[in-house]
Amino acid sequence: MSTINYSEKIPNNVNLGEDRTLQRALEGWQPNFINWWDDVGPEGSTNHEVYLRTAVSVDPQGWAQFGHVKMRDYRWGIFLNPGDANREIHFGDHKGEKAWQDVPGEHRANLRRIIVTQGDTEPASVEQQRHLGLTAPSMYDLRNLFQINVEEGRHLWAMVYLLQKHFGRDGREEADALLQRTSGDANNPRILGAFNEKTPDWLAFFMFTYFTDRDGKFQLAALAESAFDPLARTTKFMLTEEAHHMFVGESGVSRVIARTAQVMNELKTDDAQKIRAAGCIDLGTIQRYLNFHYSVTIDLFGADQSSNAAIFYSSGLKGRYEEGKRDDDHVLKGQTYKVLEVKDGQLVEKDVPMLNALNEVLRDDFIKDSVAGVGRWNKVLEKAGIPTRLTVPHKAFNRQIGALAGIKMSPEGRVVNDIEWAAKRDEWLPSSEDFAFVASLMGRVVEPGKFAGWISPPVMGINRQPVDFEYVRFG
Ligand SMILES: [Fe+2]
Ligand SMILES: [Fe+2]
Repeated sequence: MSTINYSEKIPNNVNLGEDRTLQRALEGWQPNFINWWDDVGPEGSTNHEVYLRTAVSVDPQGWAQFGHVKMRDYRWGIFLNPGDANREIHFGDHKGEKAWQDVPGEHRANLRRIIVTQGDTEPASVEQQRHLGLTAPSMYDLRNLFQINVEEGRHLWAMVYLLQKHFGRDGREEADALLQRTSGDANNPRILGAFNEKTPDWLAFFMFTYFTDRDGKFQLAALAESAFDPLARTTKFMLTEEAHHMFVGESGVSRVIARTAQVMNELKTDDAQKIRAAGCIDLGTIQRYLNFHYSVTIDLFGADQSSNAAIFYSSGLKGRYEEGKRDDDHVLKGQTYKVLEVKDGQLVEKDVPMLNALNEVLRDDFIKDSVAGVGRWNKVLEKAGIPTRLTVPHKAFNRQIGALAGIKMSPEGRVVNDIEWAAKRDEWLPSSEDFAFVASLMGRVVEPGKFAGWISPPVMGINRQPVDFEYVRFG
């Protein structure tokens, strides 16, 4: 069944009405979710009516319906991709066995941990982005921010459904805790580092949605391979929503670059101070933001060697990105993979068992995917006749997790000493002065069709609406 039942309190395509215990648990959690949204969701947005898409079916054709809704009335619900009764596990030690509809006892703790860790990122990003609505560069951008926020809220629902349906009392406790941790809170922070960082301005937001939502894509894609079928089906539907988040990031950065390039050509200068004085973000600042978000995001994949990663794979809990398209044995015993370490002040590669290196495998897949979009940003510069190019830093740059943690490294991948790091840090990562400058550009522009001076308008509106459409009606 793929049609979503909206006549129930909680929209769903999982026959929720037939499972009274679960329905009660979710209906008990729902008011806490709304309180959480009111407390730490988008600031000052209660009366806005936002042109949002809402899932009406999980079918690839026309799953989304658009209309103006108050975000707090958004029909958050539970949507799983259709199941295949004959689906088989296609990797790890259980390869060829039937996929699980329930959680096997021996994998319960690990599966719960995987679901909680994924679930924790969803409300975290809403918290990180909660002030951005106050400084939106346009009504179009404001609407995109809110669309992402409600969908991250729905992703939280998706993980809470799995916890409450399949993990009994522990699951209900974990579902409550997901609303109690808060991004950046000193006493009760979110689980993963990048989700406790601030998203202080819109350039940071676009970098976050380009890089960090893409981490989401790769994690979800790996979970979509899971032997635990409800997890696979849930994450497959989440992936359809994630694509829009990355689009917002990629097109957002691209529009910032386009505007900067335009002003550079008008003023015939590449002088950062002159570009700043004209109210645009210089390419050096954009590069430093990129360096920061990229390095913080690749840390999310975890340690380069991890026995947990091996266990998760071999027991069928988490596959690789596009597991089904790979032509190896999908068991990976006896195979090796190259990871980096520092030896005598130099970065060297070493071979380690592939099963233990699966975090690194996923990180490398992510890196390939992110580099492609940076190439598309460079096309904007190329077309404008600007010779500067953006690059992703070396993967050992500014790392806090794994064998490369704490190693001082230039963005090009040269090991540097503490003195050089201290001298160059503000050339490589955003300085407090960069943040202050970008913050100074952030003003609220929300008249339909108007855009802040530091960003170009988009090529097209949302859902074939014009760019100057009234995407948000302020109550
Ligand atoms: Fe998400
Ligand atoms: Fe997302």
